Amino acid sequence: MKNLTIIDHPLVQRDVSILRDKSTPNQLFRTVLGRIAGMMAFEVTKDFAVEKYSVQTPLAKAQGYRLKEEIVIVPILRAGLGMVEGFMNVLPEARVGHVGLYRDEETLEPVDYYSKFPKNLAQSLVLLIDPMLATGGSAKAGIEFLKNKGAKNIRLVCLISSPAGIRIVQKNHPDVPIYVAVVDKGLNNRGFILPGLGDAGDRTFGTE
Ligand code: PRP
Repeated sequence: MKNLTIIDHPLVQRDVSILRDKSTPNQLFRTVLGRIAGMMAFEVTKDFAVEKYSVQTPLAKAQGYRLKEEIVIVPILRAGLGMVEGFMNVLPEARVGHVGLYRDEETLEPVDYYSKFPKNLAQSLVLLIDPMLATGGSAKAGIEFLKNKGAKNIRLVCLISSPAGIRIVQKNHPDVPIYVAVVDKGLNNRGFILPGLGDAGDRTFGTE
């Protein structure tokens, strides 16, 4: 599928299985979600541009490299928060924006309730992160939000996705590359991914 990267590394697959398991307690769920986020960050940043500079080692001069672009990480609240630390571990220079969206349980439409972005959003490479891409409504709205604030270079990173969610993002935002760990079969009538892992926000914060 166009603009879609599936990060099917064995360690990611192992961790997705732990997250899927309903007997995984909240504390382990948080730990593993953070760990997968770090591994996904590695793949998502693979083609980031670097600029060269000179580094003085204790013995000689060496070629150094630093990231060329400024990075902004934007978790979709709440569940996206569980992926921030994993990304920040490998991108400590990144700034963090927030967008709060919840799905109306009847209409399944995303409702926005909070947003705050760093000033350099328009010039930055923006990573929008959320563990779940179900109907795609939240990701679509989150990307629209970012574009309205001036962001031009956006990547979407989700852990578990559905074919319908991927299609919605591809149709509405063909310029946004999508990175996922798995594409599941589909959605149930409440818009939950099957087999999925349940509600990532609830399992992260213990609000089941
Ligand atoms: C979940 C999930 C995504 C969204 C995905 O959030 O974390 O943000 O649903 O569904 P969609 O693709 O159909 O929009 P939820 O609304 O449960 O809020 P929460 O993160 O606060 O639990």
